[in-house]
Amino acid sequence: MRLGVLVSGRGSNLQAILDAIAAGALEAEVSAVVSDKPDAPALQRVEKDVAVVVPRKDPRFEETIASVLEERGVELVVLAGFMKILSPWFLERFAGRIINIHPSLLPSFRGLHAQRQALERGVKISGCTVHWVDENLDGGPILAQTAVPVLGGDTEESLSERILAEEHRILVETIANITHTKKNS
Ligand code: GAR
Repeated sequence: MRLGVLVSGRGSNLQAILDAIAAGALEAEVSAVVSDKPDAPALQRVEKDVAVVVPRKDPRFEETIASVLEERGVELVVLAGFMKILSPWFLERFAGRIINIHPSLLPSFRGLHAQRQALERGVKISGCTVHWVDENLDGGPILAQTAVPVLGGDTEESLSERILAEEHRILVETIANITHTKKNS
């Protein structure tokens, strides 16, 4: 399965995918890593020919991303820390082929700083979610979730770190499941 991974920052979820492929745990290939930020550290995690920068100010931002993904034969688009909301036009073009990882138990704490929102709300359990992407912010059918307890004394950083470890696991597992389903269909 050819993957297109959209990123905006660090790229630890991208790295989890790359590591799983290298370990033979995921039958997939990262055909494109697209960043809306030219300086995203995620870009350094792949070969230069795989990495593509499409700046947000590009007047044809989504058209350019769509062309890159289609030219490279991408079958599944993975939003892995991609911090720009995609339009209905883009979602339609890749209908049923876009997943997102989010650091909360959706539908709680959509949007930015989900871990901070969880701490501020005082929940005792948070977690992470992988879901199909639809036109609603952090909406769409849920594919996988894992709970992570919020501990006394947790900071945004410590909670984020524990959730992140689970993100890496469920994102890779979900992609593996989709790959498996596709192979057997
Ligand atoms: C992850 O925690 C991911 O869940 C979050 O951004 C981080 C990216 O980390 N995404 C969102 O909040 C999307 N709403 P990474 O660049 O190290 O994978």
